[in-house]
Amino acid sequence: MITTLRKSVRILRELMRDPKNPAKRLEALNKIGQILVPGYRFSWPDPDWWHNPAFNNYLKQFNEIEGYNTQRRWGMAQLLRVIDSVQGDTAECGVYRGAASHTILFANSKSSVPRHHHIFDSFDGISTPVNEDGNYWTRGDLTASEQIAFDALREFEGKTFYRGWIPDRFHEVEQTRFSFVHVDVDLYQPTKDSIAFFYPRMNPGAIFVCDDYGLKVCPGATKACDEFLSDKPEKMISMPDGAGYFIKGLTTSLDLY
Ligand SMILES: C[S@@+](CC[C@H](N)C(=O)[O-])C[C@H]1O[C@@H](n2cnc3c(N)ncnc32)[C@H](O)[C@@H]1O
Repeated sequence: MITTLRKSVRILRELMRDPKNPAKRLEALNKIGQILVPGYRFSWPDPDWWHNPAFNNYLKQFNEIEGYNTQRRWGMAQLLRVIDSVQGDTAECGVYRGAASHTILFANSKSSVPRHHHIFDSFDGISTPVNEDGNYWTRGDLTASEQIAFDALREFEGKTFYRGWIPDRFHEVEQTRFSFVHVDVDLYQPTKDSIAFFYPRMNPGAIFVCDDYGLKVCPGATKACDEFLSDKPEKMISMPDGAGYFIKGLTTSLDLY
């Protein structure tokens, strides 16, 4: 601990010789970051979307302006632009306080294609983890009341809430076709149930996003997606900041790294 502090102080002293230089400040942050969390990778700072006022207002509404989710929030919004001309409804499995559904409903409200949004959540937190999920999660984690999501999404028309354990209420939308499905339930079994249910109901060009894909704390969700797609032409495309997606009908056969 003392050595860590000494190293950090040395880096800060060096920085004080040129305290206003942003490149030096970033370098100092990176060096101190390596001491505190070895292996942590900072990314290139200040992409233009960090300054997008509408997007920042959205993040503020969900108290996420400084959170770890901002890259994934922006990434999902970009994917919603890709499906703009694809016919079909939208769905989210694992809604919590409604942040991702807010973006989906916002996109639906601007889309030329009429869409309804289907919202699935226990609103009693996550279900019981199984062996595939490791030991990070406990049943009931991430409980938020349905009213919180309801209030957050109040401004949007065209949505239905299905409170209950996945997949108990999926049969209510079994005749529906989808253009966009966002699954964010953290665990193996409900992710597997979701991908199995929605895959055959996705129109060509529709996008399936698993928010938990590739995250170390969600090995079960990652496994569920890979297992299900193992005999399908589509494979998960892993995003740099966590999350993965596939596009229905688009073959992904190239394996790099
Ligand atoms: C990480 S949160 C979702 C976050 C949300 N997508 C967002 O944008 O902020 C996980 C959600 O999945 C729900 N959940 C987990 N397992 C579930 C299951 N088996 N059935 C229904 N809902 C479940 C939890 O209640 C919780 O709201």
